[in-house]
Amino acid sequence: MINVAILGFGVVGSGVAEVLTQNKGIIEKKLGKEVNIKYILDLRDFPGNPFESKVVHDFNIILNDPEVSIVAEMMGGSHPAYDFSKAALEAGKSVVTSNKEVVANFGAELISIAKAHNVAYLFEASVGGGIPIIRPMCNDLASNNICEISGILNGTTNYILTKMTAEGIPFETVLKDAQDKGYAERNPAADVEGLDAARKIVILAALAFGKAISPNSIHVEGITSITTEDVELAAALGYSVKLTGHAKKTEDGKILAMVSPRLIPVSAPLSSINDVFNGILLNGDMVGQVMFYGPGAGKLPTASAVCADIVDVIAHVESGIKLPDYTVANDDDVACFESYSCKRMFVSDSAVALEGTLANVTNRVSCDKCDLTAVITEEMTEKEAQAALVAISGAKMYRVL
Ligand code: HSE
Repeated sequence: MINVAILGFGVVGSGVAEVLTQNKGIIEKKLGKEVNIKYILDLRDFPGNPFESKVVHDFNIILNDPEVSIVAEMMGGSHPAYDFSKAALEAGKSVVTSNKEVVANFGAELISIAKAHNVAYLFEASVGGGIPIIRPMCNDLASNNICEISGILNGTTNYILTKMTAEGIPFETVLKDAQDKGYAERNPAADVEGLDAARKIVILAALAFGKAISPNSIHVEGITSITTEDVELAAALGYSVKLTGHAKKTEDGKILAMVSPRLIPVSAPLSSINDVFNGILLNGDMVGQVMFYGPGAGKLPTASAVCADIVDVIAHVESGIKLPDYTVANDDDVACFESYSCKRMFVSDSAVALEGTLANVTNRVSCDKCDLTAVITEEMTEKEAQAALVAISGAKMYRVL
């Protein structure tokens, strides 16, 4: 029998207990072993809950119990999640997690501690909710040089943008709905201001390029200033507005990563990814472009990915598991964002100012109802785009895929 301890009995933690219980037969048939939830660590009690008797409030009970070989960390936040994960690995227990914040900030260190203690640190659920993405990148695409990653990486903001676009529902109402459905972070600012997607793109970039850059070192913009008028103007020009993460290697070998709203042509694959779904496009030098698609947030999809890691650890208990491999990046590894070049959409209430400032306009549309004009430009760098924004008072700018 394999004993597992669950850290954090919130949305995902309770989902893991549900998956391990509901699909006990399937999991045990695959492994030939029983998987037992021995403890659930949480600050709260859960009177009447079927798992009530497993709840403990002291992490040391888990740490000091030699029968617990796997710790599933779903606490959220950096501390004490990082500290408990580190202590568990050092005590010879494998750790699996859905915690993007810990993986993005401490992943390289925790992987190296896991290797030193001959145990596993796995984080399939940290990116893309229920979508298998980490394991395919490490295993199935191992013979590829991955040169570029683009994706819709946050279910909450995709849900909000979908509802704003299709139903014209105001931002705050949709956010509340996403929180009620268990998609949003404890502090939804991390979703709507882009930090959650930033954590995910740096995790994917670390797997692709072998260097973990800090989420704080990249350009991050959220969706809080997007209006239904902007979305309508983009649609009239043939684009959907999506919050995307993007990472690539520049010609001088640096890593350029960013999170921002982008206009996606309606004919492009990412454009049709709606609601809480995520979609991730990877470009490999051998395979070409592959797309991963599925539910990007939510209790059972995310728990499904955590349980896949639990199964993987148990399946490789004898042979040892191949862990992701990357190190912490230096400042020098991060490309300067000023040189990032792409097409743009500028929106302003002055068509004259737009036409007078932007020499390279290819397409335009005006909205009589809202008295705004939007234009699409040829490619321009961030530096040029920021200068244009200064010149056109009150204008907004969107990057175009
Ligand atoms: N808040 C996250 C999202 C949860 O909406 O994508 C899944 O990581």
